[in-house]
Amino acid sequence: MTSSQGFVCRVCSARASTFLSFGPMPLANGFLSAADFHGEFRFELSVGFCPACCMVQLGEQPRRDQMFGPNYPYYSSTSSSMSEHFARFAATILDELPTSERSLIVELGSNDGIMLRHLTRPGVTAVGIDPSTSVAQRARDQGLNIVVSFFDADVAARIAEEYGSADVIVGANVMCHIADPHEVLRGVRRLLKPGAVFVFEDPYLGDVVHRVSYDQIYDEHVFLFAATSIANLARLHDMELVDVAPQSVHGGSMRFTLARLGERQVSDRVGLLLQQERVGGLCNFETFEELRRSIEKSRDDLRALLGGLRAKGKRIVGYGATSKSTTVTNYCGITPDLVEYLSDTTPAKQGKFSPGAHIPVRPYREFVTRYPDYALLFAWNHATEILTKETEFRKSGGRWIVYVPSVALLADL
Ligand code: TYD
Ligand code: ZN
Repeated sequence: MTSSQGFVCRVCSARASTFLSFGPMPLANGFLSAADFHGEFRFELSVGFCPACCMVQLGEQPRRDQMFGPNYPYYSSTSSSMSEHFARFAATILDELPTSERSLIVELGSNDGIMLRHLTRPGVTAVGIDPSTSVAQRARDQGLNIVVSFFDADVAARIAEEYGSADVIVGANVMCHIADPHEVLRGVRRLLKPGAVFVFEDPYLGDVVHRVSYDQIYDEHVFLFAATSIANLARLHDMELVDVAPQSVHGGSMRFTLARLGERQVSDRVGLLLQQERVGGLCNFETFEELRRSIEKSRDDLRALLGGLRAKGKRIVGYGATSKSTTVTNYCGITPDLVEYLSDTTPAKQGKFSPGAHIPVRPYREFVTRYPDYALLFAWNHATEILTKETEFRKSGGRWIVYVPSVALLADL
């Protein structure tokens, strides 16, 4: 599908232009044991822009069962602020439903049930769909109703047969993971009741461009959505973008609401955001060439900072073995010589090594027991939660290194 210059757009089949090639990369969540270093999976990570539909997307994506297999180690419920976010998201969904009738909510990519567990009310049936048995089991343990599968038109038909049509379909951080959005929208269209909506949120392209948060680019994120590209995609399915709502989670996300064409009033917020994207250059290739230059500078600055600190004998630990950190460590050439280990609270990642860069992942208690001189904030999207929790680290003389929106020591910001 890829060439050095471009590839076929997954949305509209026009020619997309590559603006950045990262080279061979591992899976962002492919945490592994030392025994598996040899023969570790890699693929060519590159990202391009389609001038016809404005969709930013990967040139190549690994097979979906390679990424979202039975041992997928990403559990959504690892942050208190995310749990609060999903409780609020669920409340807004429930508020939209009529209280008098029985309702069906379907969640795509329900992971460990972080949102689904809040989608309960007498008269409401909530069904989650997730392909990864590891996380789905965690949701089932809470008594939630989970279909272990990728979502497509056939699964939609099966759900419709068993439960009836959906009053609302929701998805958080799942649409941008799916290489064939047409299959999803065919399924969604099939499953929605007349007048019902599909509400989903994903990292927002505008935030990636403005914050130079290039670590959102990795195997799972096959798309970086903007209102313009989502409106174009929806139109191909006789659907339309009827609302948008910016969210602060995941370093800046957008919640999109789609309905069948003409079935819902379109909010003024949609037109405003489309205009903002036009004016802000989100539909121009030059914007992405400029982004590439900013990304290269970010890489050079981070390497220089870490190298300089290590030359002075300082200890540096990565905070959060995030999926995003896989892009940063591999693209910037951050090895265990520079970053001693990654501290992470997820048991499934602890004791393993980070994909590609092979930095050990250790339990959080090691960080607290012996603070390093510097902590590199890979979980920067949780900065508020983490900085509040880690006042002792700062008091003991520890310093934070960040790289979004630019490489800096936190006190310098
Ligand atoms: P997340 O923010 O979802 O990032 P990504 O989508 O890039 O994987 O992942 C957060 C990771 O950071 C997860 O592995 C848990 C870890 N973490 C900590 O170790 N400590 C913390 O205080 C927080 C908030 C997260
Ligand atoms: Zn296109």
